[in-house]
Amino acid sequence: MSSPLTLVQLSDSHVSADPDAEYRDCRALANLESLAPVVGHLDPDAIVFSGDLSEDGSAASYRLVADLIEDWGKPIAWLPGNHDERSVMEKALDRPGFTAGPVCHFGGWQVVLLDSAWHDRPEGELNDERLAPLDALDGEQPALVFVHHQPIPVDSPWIDKYPLVENERLWDRLDDGLVKAVAFGHVHQVFAGEHEGIACLSAPSTVANSHRDVQKFTLDETGPGLRWFRLWPDGRWQTGIEYAKSEHGIS
Ligand SMILES: [Fe+2]
Ligand SMILES: [Fe+2]
Repeated sequence: MSSPLTLVQLSDSHVSADPDAEYRDCRALANLESLAPVVGHLDPDAIVFSGDLSEDGSAASYRLVADLIEDWGKPIAWLPGNHDERSVMEKALDRPGFTAGPVCHFGGWQVVLLDSAWHDRPEGELNDERLAPLDALDGEQPALVFVHHQPIPVDSPWIDKYPLVENERLWDRLDDGLVKAVAFGHVHQVFAGEHEGIACLSAPSTVANSHRDVQKFTLDETGPGLRWFRLWPDGRWQTGIEYAKSEHGIS
């Protein structure tokens, strides 16, 4: 049995130009930094950052995030969220080890980074151009698709107001034999569901998460978290969640 690849998904750090700035009463940069020991323990082959890296879209905010996570010494794949400014982000993240794909190849897997974010719109949308990376997939290799917005409802009214709209455009393009999961951020909570045979998985925010099934964002004291994936070249995979406050008892 060949050994698996490990991916870590980070999401929704909401860092601002001021390194001490708070997001929903939590320190954004410090909370992202609090995950460093978890990432170190998992020792991933790559990190995927699934949007809302910034709260204010400033170049300084992206530099703060990039300076921090590039010290972790892992390849970083990224895509924007609704709080990001793609053009600013592209310039600030134009560094060795950073990529926006849109298709990355890691250990026999294809990782697709779809951009669902639009300026001044909290909800997401994928048009033909944004979906085009899916047409370039190799039909012989398993794939994971990352996108910022939730492609199915997560049963939390406060964030289901801002989903991936016209989501059938995405589902119509996905081959359930090839694509094992659609992973997303944006919802600031852990979610695991399924649609048409494909897993739908969120990553928790690295700064502030909400309790589920509430009308308004309600801070969950579990704290900063991340999602990890283990991917075997034959298409088998596992996933799980780790928190900064946990004992890092990862098997
Ligand atoms: Fe967010
Ligand atoms: Fe978002």
